[in-house]
Amino acid sequence: MSTEPGVEKVLVTGASGYIATHIVQQLQQAGYKVRGTVRSLTNPKKVGPLISKLRQPGNIGQMAIHLLSMSVYLSVCPHAEVLVTGASGYIATHIVQQLQQAGYKVRGTVRSLTNPKKVGPLKELCPNAAHELELVEADLTNEACWKDAVQGCSHVIHTASPFPDKSPKDENIVIKPAVEGTTNVLQACVDVGGVKRVVLTSSVAAISDLTETNTEPITEETWRNMNSPMEDAYGKSKALAEKAAWDFVEKLPAESKFELAVINPSMVLGPVICGVPGTSVEVIRRILERDPPAIPKLNFPVCDVRDVAKAHVVAMTHPDAPGHRHIVSPHNMWFREMADVLREEFRDKGYKPPSMMAPPLLLKMVSWFDSTVKYILPLQGHKTTLSNHRLTEVLGIKPYEPKESLIDMAYTCIDKGFIVRKKQYVNPKTQQTQTTEGASASP
Ligand SMILES: NC(=O)c1ccc[n+]([C@@H]2O[C@H](COP(=O)([O-])OP(=O)(O)OC[C@H]3O[C@@H](n4cnc5c(N)ncnc54)[C@H](OP(=O)(O)O)[C@@H]3O)[C@@H](O)[C@H]2O)c1
Repeated sequence: MSTEPGVEKVLVTGASGYIATHIVQQLQQAGYKVRGTVRSLTNPKKVGPLISKLRQPGNIGQMAIHLLSMSVYLSVCPHAEVLVTGASGYIATHIVQQLQQAGYKVRGTVRSLTNPKKVGPLKELCPNAAHELELVEADLTNEACWKDAVQGCSHVIHTASPFPDKSPKDENIVIKPAVEGTTNVLQACVDVGGVKRVVLTSSVAAISDLTETNTEPITEETWRNMNSPMEDAYGKSKALAEKAAWDFVEKLPAESKFELAVINPSMVLGPVICGVPGTSVEVIRRILERDPPAIPKLNFPVCDVRDVAKAHVVAMTHPDAPGHRHIVSPHNMWFREMADVLREEFRDKGYKPPSMMAPPLLLKMVSWFDSTVKYILPLQGHKTTLSNHRLTEVLGIKPYEPKESLIDMAYTCIDKGFIVRKKQYVNPKTQQTQTTEGASASP
């Protein structure tokens, strides 16, 4: 077989189907460039074999996949290499997985290659991946290590940043690595060259301190009030790091320019596929373990980790993403609603999420000796909503329902031992049980 003159690229619809995979394979073997359509790029069973078929000898050139269900165009270049910083984190593991499922070559940075709890799960994220995940060591505070990490990458997704569960006494412990780390990564992109776009993981904390009940949803135009009553080093670190990134890119001379897109997630829920429990697990652990036994009147803007990861992956190639922030915060949940959802699902599995509300005065008293509680006091009673226009209309992402996110998160946390397993516990999806109560994995 040989290619017909004038035929450059062939579109195969329903590319993951029985017949279509053979058509794709034969077209590729004949030297055609092929574009396939799939309904979702995140189904490894369908996309994995397709990508490996497309990678057989003789397959050269670019493959592109239309994500019809999202009406979004993603260009997947088998030779494009993506750097994901902080790859072993809660959000980053989902990003790495989705990138690998979409056929990208991925390089991830971790602080230590010798920590099996963090590195082990990373290697198993996408068993059918066309390219093995490459891991390199890099620390945000070590400027010198980033050139090697960035070398050869056309896209960078920068998620690494300190995410403590409470504010340290010296806020610079969080702010310095966040800000300097971001500029170190961006400077390496300039020094090495060849990077087309950087996607930065910021936060809604860079947009609002969430201490107000608003009438109109807050948009990406807004920036955090740096004189906020919140003693929140993390929130400040996110605003300062994001500002530093925008300033850095704006000041670049024309010959060194690359694009920047920013993702601003709210409190992230959803399945945990990384190896250690980070700060995100704390809220759900506290509810399931009745710590404390009463519920504060708190409302959180929330999102699902799978949507956050997808927002990064789409923003990496979407033509309208550069130069923009993208809020990912489709829902709000009261703490009480979270406890209700978890009680309904896990009551017969031995868990008793609290139902009693904590009086504000009691919370104030607890805050005198518990700094985590002190941190949340200014948030009490407020519900801050945020606009998701760019998430749904531009990036084309249909968000998960928060109930599903919460339940999926709880099951994965219990299965991984991040939350104490009760004797009666059984995961209905995996039928995973444990005979002895109290097993809890140490971080
Ligand atoms: N989870 C949320 O609710 C949420 C919401 C909005 C925004 N975000 C942002 O999303 C990003 C990822 O957060 P996450 O929830 O996935 O938290 P996470 O699991 O704690 O991940 C943070 C990652 O950053 C890395 N990191 C921290 N300090 C570092 C340093 N000095 N040098 C190199 N790497 C460093 C960590 O590496 P180690 O594993 O070595 O510690 C880890 O891989 C962060 O930028 C966070 O601010 C998170």
